[in-house]
Amino acid sequence: MKCMVVYSSKTGNTKIIAEAIHKALPQDTELYPVENAPSSDHYDFIAVGGWVDKGMPDEAIQNYMQKIHKKSIGIFLTLGAYPDSQHAAESLQKACELLNDNTILGSFICQGKVDPKLIEMMAKMTKDKPEHPHAMNDERKARLAEAAKHPNDQDCRNAAETFKKMIEELKGQSNA
Ligand SMILES: Cc1cc2nc3c(=O)[nH]c(=O)nc-3n(C[C@H](O)[C@H](O)[C@H](O)COP(=O)(O)O)c2cc1C
Repeated sequence: MKCMVVYSSKTGNTKIIAEAIHKALPQDTELYPVENAPSSDHYDFIAVGGWVDKGMPDEAIQNYMQKIHKKSIGIFLTLGAYPDSQHAAESLQKACELLNDNTILGSFICQGKVDPKLIEMMAKMTKDKPEHPHAMNDERKARLAEAAKHPNDQDCRNAAETFKKMIEELKGQSNA
């Protein structure tokens, strides 16, 4: 079974998760940043992941996802929001829609520290505008502080475990 991990990562969070998944998959699994990824045509299983931008998988990984057809897939995403939020569920849903003619075996999502430059820009933009959806209120500050701790070792173990199960399921299917 030929497997690869393809990821998009602007500030390194998703790369950490991609590497943890890569270690958990069979030894000959290939790992590519999306810029260098080959066509998915000759692979049996593709772990494909990116970071959430405006409630969607980022543009680079979206473009790649749209080129994958009729494959077994695992999705992974990192984001600033909480992983059990509606926003996280919708972001994953968008990824599933982009991969809609594939078999999605599972998914993994966790928080990732948000670029301080973006936080500063948002704080400036929403200064004196408490009603703004991105205003820097206590709830947002707490969420960003939590995101700043991720991805951590536990996230890496959880991602590895999730993807190991997918491969076992796939192997079970091909032996059946
Ligand atoms: C330009 C930009 C837009 C972002 N948009 C969102 C968003 O819509 N929702 C969210 O939960 N996180 C958002 N984030 C946070 C990132 O998804 C998060 O920090 C992610 O872990 C970054 O992954 P990377 O380090 O692999 O690039 C955004 C970050 C940036 C820089």
